[in-house]
Amino acid sequence: MKTTYFILIVFATFIVACTPKSKEPLKTTEISLADQIAMGEQLVTVLGCNDCHSPKVMTAHGPAPDSLRLLSGHPANEVLAAYDKEILKSYVLFNMNSTATTGPWGTSFAANLTPDPTGIGSWTEEQFLRAMKEGKWKGLENSRNLLPPMPWQGYSQMPDEDLKAIFAYLKSIKPVSNPVPMAIPPAL
Ligand code: HEC
Repeated sequence: MKTTYFILIVFATFIVACTPKSKEPLKTTEISLADQIAMGEQLVTVLGCNDCHSPKVMTAHGPAPDSLRLLSGHPANEVLAAYDKEILKSYVLFNMNSTATTGPWGTSFAANLTPDPTGIGSWTEEQFLRAMKEGKWKGLENSRNLLPPMPWQGYSQMPDEDLKAIFAYLKSIKPVSNPVPMAIPPAL
């Protein structure tokens, strides 16, 4: 008799232990817009977008992104200095802002990534993903390929949710009106 009770108690304990405590709703991966923007800002900082897309101010520690013109691309009013064509056979040239680069592909200018009409103001998320994943100018299907030194080939490996977070952050920053010049083809 004692053995039967013992078995029953063990069995009851087992049932209680295996019964779910409460019916909690399944956790989803949805994050708030504020969290998405914060994640995008961190990615932009870590991935060095400011290195090329923000004009610089000189500080005691060297050049730093100009917070007033953050991510606004190559300044439209900057006149590039003349360079020795001979030197281009061996070097790639950056301007002091590191927003303009001259190499075998010609001269390319870092784009305005702020939500201004001269930047990505009218861009859809789909366009941004196409620019970053397929290296298409303005993220348009049949546009030209993006030029160096925009390292989109590496960025194309990012998960979509990271790219979407970057886009949400870019859409949240201060719009800066700056019509970046068109790329210049290589000098003959
Ligand atoms: C080493 C320099 C460099 C870095 C770093 C860089 N970019 Fe660029 N980016 C450029 C240049 C230069 C262009 C313009 C290329 C062209 O005209 O084809 C460009 C173009 C783009 C474009 C396309 C704009 C358009 O109008 O089609 C997007 C979007 C972009 N960059 C986003 C980013 C983001 C986001 C980051 C960081 C994750 C980043 N870039 C980092 C140099 C850079």
